[in-house]
Amino acid sequence: MIKVDIQAVSPFLPPNFCSEQEAALNAAHAHLTSGTGVGAEFTGWVRLPALYDRAEFARLKAAAHKIQSDSQVLVVIGIGGSYLGARAVIELLRSPNYNLKQKDTPDIFFAGNSLSTDALLELLELIGDRDFSINVISKSGTTTEPAVAFRVLKGRLEQKYGTEGAKDRIYATTDKEKGALKHLADGAGYETFTVPDEIGGRYSVLTAVGLLPIAAAGIDIDALMVGAEAMMRRCLIPGEENPAWQYAAARHTLYQSGKSIELLACYEPSFRMFAEWWKQLYGESEGKQGRGLFPASAEFTADLHSMGQYIQEGQRLLFETVVHFAAPLGRYSIPYDESDGDGLNFLAGRELAFVNEQALRGTLLAHLDGGVPGIVLTVPNRTEACAGELIYFFEFACGLSGYLLGVNPFDQPGVEAYKRNMFALLGKPGFEEQRAKLEARFFS
Ligand code: PA5
Repeated sequence: MIKVDIQAVSPFLPPNFCSEQEAALNAAHAHLTSGTGVGAEFTGWVRLPALYDRAEFARLKAAAHKIQSDSQVLVVIGIGGSYLGARAVIELLRSPNYNLKQKDTPDIFFAGNSLSTDALLELLELIGDRDFSINVISKSGTTTEPAVAFRVLKGRLEQKYGTEGAKDRIYATTDKEKGALKHLADGAGYETFTVPDEIGGRYSVLTAVGLLPIAAAGIDIDALMVGAEAMMRRCLIPGEENPAWQYAAARHTLYQSGKSIELLACYEPSFRMFAEWWKQLYGESEGKQGRGLFPASAEFTADLHSMGQYIQEGQRLLFETVVHFAAPLGRYSIPYDESDGDGLNFLAGRELAFVNEQALRGTLLAHLDGGVPGIVLTVPNRTEACAGELIYFFEFACGLSGYLLGVNPFDQPGVEAYKRNMFALLGKPGFEEQRAKLEARFFS
């Protein structure tokens, strides 16, 4: 079970920080669980781990098996909430080096998350002559980055297998009825999976959006959902014992006391993309109306040798949230060396996990002494069940946090600004006036 430890924050928090916010937490909790808050139409994820569509779940498992049996490569096309969750879980549970490993599941490449020519060309080169399938994911079905990548990769697939053959290798995850992708998929006869109306992109990892690529990578999605459901049951009970309450209350108190950046840190390199998923979840949910903590991330101990200086002695804007996996999956002891040229024999026979643990403990106290409080989230290990717990925990705490902050945690109006400018500059029909205004700003 995930545990929230606020020992290394306590000098920065009043002892009763949680009970002091009880009324606000209760209200936020009720908004989430009874659908009474702003954005309530997007709270379908709250009971998803218990109520998910079993028939679609079975169908996506079958699709994952088919991909495993007929493809050496799966290309997952999507951006933002239609991409980060799957990549986060695959890297956390299988490894950031997943594609390099010997395995009986396909290599997985992510596309459509940039507009880089070189990245797209490199992807085509990496696929090479190998058999491949595509999972194209877009809730709106109209996002430019994945649409461009899909056009290119669909073309490549059709060249290789013909239109009919390609059809059996394309899986579209999108809205149940609207959007260009849905119409294209229905017209072409692709197998489709649904992003439920009441679940926004960044809360969708436990729907087909995340689950199809995760299952294709050979991850046990039943166990993932069991973990998420266990955490859901804990989070649905209001009160100070609720781990999401503790985390949301602690970070909100730190925000009110002047901290403006939350640094999510972990001592496992496989967590890096999970932190990217978390950054989108919190950044898009809280960063609006001039409010919100800026979500940043660090990979320790590597970043202690780069950002460590700033964290220890730079502007005092930060607090850190440390995800601590209590036990590694494997074991390794530091060997004894007769010559002891490196002076490390005092560690000989010690497990590397022990050394990593002391790095965490020492850093936490050093940062605390430097004015950077740390919340520690202890997670037993890197298993499917724990990943499911962690996902749900962060989602629920994020919903609570948004309501504590007084914003809608489920919209992202600010994401549209760049799109409008980009469409205008690209000459998309309907944006002519905007285009003239923008060009004038560049060249006047
Ligand atoms: O959280 C969100 O809603 C966004 O990050 C979207 O997931 C992202 O913009 C991609 O949108 P779509 O799935 O509609 O292509």
